[in-house]
Amino acid sequence: MATLDRNFTDELRMRLSIVDVVRRRVPLTRKGQNYWGCCPFHNEKTPSFSVNEEKGFYHCFGCGEHGDIISFTMKTGNMEFREAITELASQAGMKMPDYKPRDPKVVAREESYIQITERATALFQQKLFEPAGATALAYITGRGFTPDMIKKYRIGYAPKNNLIANTFANARQENLIATGLCRRGDYGMYDFFRDKLMFPIFNVRGQIVAFSGRSLDGSEPKYINTTDTEMFHKRATVFGLNFARDAIYRAGRSIVVEGQIDAIQMQSNGFGETVAPLGTALTEDHIAALCKSNRNITFCFDGDGAGQKAAARAASIVMPFVRDTSDVRFAFVTGGKDPDEVLKTGGRDAMRKIIDGATDLTDFLWELANKNYITSTPGGQTQAEKFLSAEIAKIKDEALRRAYEKEYASRKFNQWSRWSRKKKEVSLQLPSVDEITRGTLVYIVNTYPELVERYGDFLATLNIDFDGPAANLNMDTITAERYVVSLKLQKYMEKLVADKKDYMTQMLAGADVKDKIAAIDADMEKVRAKQEMLVII
Ligand code: UTP
Ligand code: MN
Repeated sequence: MATLDRNFTDELRMRLSIVDVVRRRVPLTRKGQNYWGCCPFHNEKTPSFSVNEEKGFYHCFGCGEHGDIISFTMKTGNMEFREAITELASQAGMKMPDYKPRDPKVVAREESYIQITERATALFQQKLFEPAGATALAYITGRGFTPDMIKKYRIGYAPKNNLIANTFANARQENLIATGLCRRGDYGMYDFFRDKLMFPIFNVRGQIVAFSGRSLDGSEPKYINTTDTEMFHKRATVFGLNFARDAIYRAGRSIVVEGQIDAIQMQSNGFGETVAPLGTALTEDHIAALCKSNRNITFCFDGDGAGQKAAARAASIVMPFVRDTSDVRFAFVTGGKDPDEVLKTGGRDAMRKIIDGATDLTDFLWELANKNYITSTPGGQTQAEKFLSAEIAKIKDEALRRAYEKEYASRKFNQWSRWSRKKKEVSLQLPSVDEITRGTLVYIVNTYPELVERYGDFLATLNIDFDGPAANLNMDTITAERYVVSLKLQKYMEKLVADKKDYMTQMLAGADVKDKIAAIDADMEKVRAKQEMLVII
């Protein structure tokens, strides 16, 4: 990209009031020195987003986002730097400066590329309504596409002959080949897409950079896409993003579905924020493109095995993008094979239910670990632990990483059968604990899972309900450990006292249990010594 004159961006910052720029998208009220509003970068009801007119900065005390007019425009508009500058320049009534001249050959190639794809799209659109396109038109209409949808998404039909090669017979062959629409064969140029229902693929600027063609006669593959070109990179292109941008900003999240027809049907039925990857494989670049607006993504996968697999892959790819403000969810289609079918049979409400019922990322990973490994065995638990650790390790924010670790440590303790197994294995039953002690232990167990690793055996003997309410405490880890140790000693002492009482009764009845009593006394002495140590430390 050509570099912009620094003076120009400085000039923009000087001319434009950040309050005016922000106000176009976020209502602000003045309080003291600053202006305040609800942060557009995270969900909130009370304003913690402040804008400082003088300094030209915004800062959110809730999520930490901050920046100036340029970053604000880029982030809220999901724009590239240059696009943001262009928009700001028009707000300021300034003429865009000349960029460092780009290689005229590249510019000419790009222009010819877009001219060709644009012209081809118009031809395909026309063909759809000619007799040759009858099957294609019947098909897409049968899929519930209205004339308005066909027009908006510029859906067309590529006939069986070499429409594009013939139309552009006089153009330079390299330019034609560069678009991926034509190839050179032994007998001259031929069309890549033939007898296909054509979906143009737009870049975020709304230019047509590629096509996806669906076969109409049941032949495989079902879809063929333009192979990568200078202007189209399948890995990084999100289908429908050009149409979804505003909706993603307004909804504060994006929805990702598997197929492009699903994306179009979703966008046309009240879920404007929906997009789809091209081809089934979701990539990091797709997520990065979406995350330019916000990091809230609801993945909505088909309910089949492929959907499950795709969801696992999506989770793995999304981890490095997760922030403490992110809201990432996973929904699975039920009541139909894909969103398109659900919308057709159950309508928007059925779809809304599926989206609203999506599983949070934390829960989804946990479910995945438990589904893929046999967590009732030590081996399976180890595998599941390794899987979870590997996923957590991808999170960039250290505090968030720790929060995930803690959450899963507590789930491992509470949900994996280790706990209930130990309960059953327990031979000696210790006297039960009171409610306050129970509440304290639940707090400790949930707050310091590492203590569970160490004292799990003992805690298991207490036979208490760890799913019950926790006491509302604030204990550091050392105090918590001392509490557990002291309880352990106390419980052991109680047991010794009870045992001694038994032997004393037996002794009075004439049994020879002197040695046993002596042993208990010795044990009691040890416990007392340990208890004293606890007090001294
Ligand atoms: P699906 O097989 O689920 O297609 O693939 P679909 O959306 O149900 O197709 P329709 O509804 O029958 O038309 C999901 C997505 O995977 C890509 C396409 O982007 C498709 O939308 N795909 C699928 C391909 O690129 N090639 C294929 O051969 C199949
Ligand atoms: Mn489908």
